[in-house]
Amino acid sequence: MKKFYNKSRLLVLCMLTFILFSSCNKTSTETEAKIDLSIYEKGYYFISPEELKSLLGSEDLVLLDCNNPKLYYKEHIEGAIGIGFHAFSRKVGKPGDPGWGTIKSKNALAKTLISLGIDNKKTVVVYSDLFKGPGADGRIAWQLRLAGLKNVSILHGGSSYWKNLGYKMTKDIPLKIIPSSGVILKDYDKSFMATKDEVFKKLDTNIVIDVRTKKEFDGSQKAGEPRGGHIKGAKHLLWTDLLNKNGTLKTPKEIEEIMKNMTISKKDDFTLY
Ligand SMILES: *[C@@H]1O[C@H](CO)[C@@H](O)[C@H](O)[C@H]1NC(C)=O
Ligand SMILES: *[C@@H]1O[C@H](CO)[C@@H](O)[C@H](O)[C@H]1NC(C)=O
Ligand SMILES: *[C@@H]1O[C@H](CO)[C@@H](O)[C@H](O)[C@H]1NC(C)=O
Ligand SMILES: *[C@@H]1O[C@H](CO)[C@@H](O)[C@H](O)[C@H]1NC(C)=O
Repeated sequence: MKKFYNKSRLLVLCMLTFILFSSCNKTSTETEAKIDLSIYEKGYYFISPEELKSLLGSEDLVLLDCNNPKLYYKEHIEGAIGIGFHAFSRKVGKPGDPGWGTIKSKNALAKTLISLGIDNKKTVVVYSDLFKGPGADGRIAWQLRLAGLKNVSILHGGSSYWKNLGYKMTKDIPLKIIPSSGVILKDYDKSFMATKDEVFKKLDTNIVIDVRTKKEFDGSQKAGEPRGGHIKGAKHLLWTDLLNKNGTLKTPKEIEEIMKNMTISKKDDFTLY
């Protein structure tokens, strides 16, 4: 739980649920001011569309599409491998069962990564359509970082923003994925996660934020959870509220302002779900 905010606040922006998106189809990138990701404390967690464009086709790049397979088969960025939301998670049993949806064991994860051509040197870029899914890219990047991979980034703005800028999508599936010769993973960095027991023990003192929709929070709608409602005492902040309408991140100042309204400061430790 400790340091969770600092390490993961940018990643978590990209997790869970979606809001409607009114598309304005911009095609000129030249006239747009390019986003400076260095204004963010951990701006390197993201890659700009321009930068990804220049990496396409490179042997150093492993590009992972985290969208629902239906979306992937419809269209994706050239060379992307479709992996979906749960590629690196345990899925034994059903949602709510112990361990369901948590990260795979180190050995199992390493095997999956090798099969995707990932080693410790490759540049891994993940993306999803932020308005058509639950922010799976954030989850995937978070899992890879807690497993010790360093060169992992999320496409800033997601694939809708990519399209918005006039960059191409394709239906072509990569013909052959060449497995890597190996990958070395670290023991999982516990500061990236909080277990159910840890959250429960500190329920009265720790800050917990529910980033799902208001309806999921108040229990009037369930999106796959065995029970509706929220963790006792949790505050509500819809994850997409930290994004601009076009899917890019709000500025650090705007995000701090939103957090301040929730009486949360940069120094606080908190847990998100
Ligand atoms: C990530 O990979 C790119 C290209 O493959 C390289 O230029 C960059 O230095 C790497 N970054 C890290 C942190 O290893
Ligand atoms: C919107 O962008 C897509 C992707 O670049 C392009 O194929 C399409 O023609 C554009 N539509 C309009 C109305 O500009
Ligand atoms: C995306 O939205 C942000 C905030 O409104 C804006 O600053 C940026 O220019 C937009 N990007 C494009 C390409 O329109
Ligand atoms: C903070 O709360 C005030 C009062 O409710 C509101 O007017 C303002 O828009 C909020 N600011 C942000 C960034 O959410």
